Amino acid sequence: MIRLTDKEFNDIVTFIKDNYGINLTKKRQLIESRMQVVLTNRGLTNFTDYFNLVKQNKSDEITAMLNKLTTNHTYFYREPAHFEFMKNVFLPMQEKTNTRKELRIWSAGCSSGEEAYTTIMTMMEYFGLKRTSWDYRILATDISLKAMEAAKNGLYGAESLKELPKTWEMRYFNKQGNDYYELKDEVRNQVIFKRLNLMEPFPYQKPFDLIFCRNVMIYFDQPTKNALINKFYDALKPGGYLFIGHSETVQRDTSEFIYVEPSIYRKG
Ligand SMILES: C[S@@+](CC[C@H](N)C(=O)[O-])C[C@H]1O[C@@H](n2cnc3c(N)ncnc32)[C@H](O)[C@@H]1O
Repeated sequence: MIRLTDKEFNDIVTFIKDNYGINLTKKRQLIESRMQVVLTNRGLTNFTDYFNLVKQNKSDEITAMLNKLTTNHTYFYREPAHFEFMKNVFLPMQEKTNTRKELRIWSAGCSSGEEAYTTIMTMMEYFGLKRTSWDYRILATDISLKAMEAAKNGLYGAESLKELPKTWEMRYFNKQGNDYYELKDEVRNQVIFKRLNLMEPFPYQKPFDLIFCRNVMIYFDQPTKNALINKFYDALKPGGYLFIGHSETVQRDTSEFIYVEPSIYRKG
């Protein structure tokens, strides 16, 4: 077994925290055990050499490492209260006030795409035949290229669809054999995937109507979360919404967001 020294551990925790906002301070054993096979596969005998490799070869090696230490787990129709809120509040309000019929939505930390695609299905269901008069596309971003490759392929196991209404499964997927479901192009073509580290400045000029950032900030410490939430605030239109995971909160005194209901916040 290759041991992780105190210095190596502190070094990598600081590097990941500073560059990715992810807090690994309680993950010492996890790093040591999960990374063994990675080091061995690369013919390395100590963590210092591996971390040097990680630091040089940022995007590929870092995401491979973060994939081992964090989770990309997600599924269709996760935390349905947000899609209900879209149907009952957000989209009716857009119909009344959005005269340009243009909607900008961002799935930040999209993993393998289920959240973004569920959002498209929610809009297709809501608008029905009227949808052709609306211009809506979703931007979906993540640091993990591997997760986004899966998203672009649009092929999912039955497990990912188990919460999705059956009628949606039939309408938006083609079944492939017994275990796989292929997303139809009419849904897939409406999501644009881009790699983005949320710790970097956001490269988007036009503000968003709605941002999802669910189950991503669980890895971040409180100052990192606060800073990110303020960046989302700036990236939204006045009246725009932020959806976060149900186990997450926005601290009242550190942001200008207005609390709407659990895990839903509004700008102004
Ligand atoms: C558990 S998944 C959440 C997926 C989806 N939003 C949901 O709620 O089901 C967390 C995702 O956050 C991504 N992530 C973690 N840190 C990130 C960062 N600094 N920038 C961008 N994405 C990040 C991970 O790669 C992972 O795909």
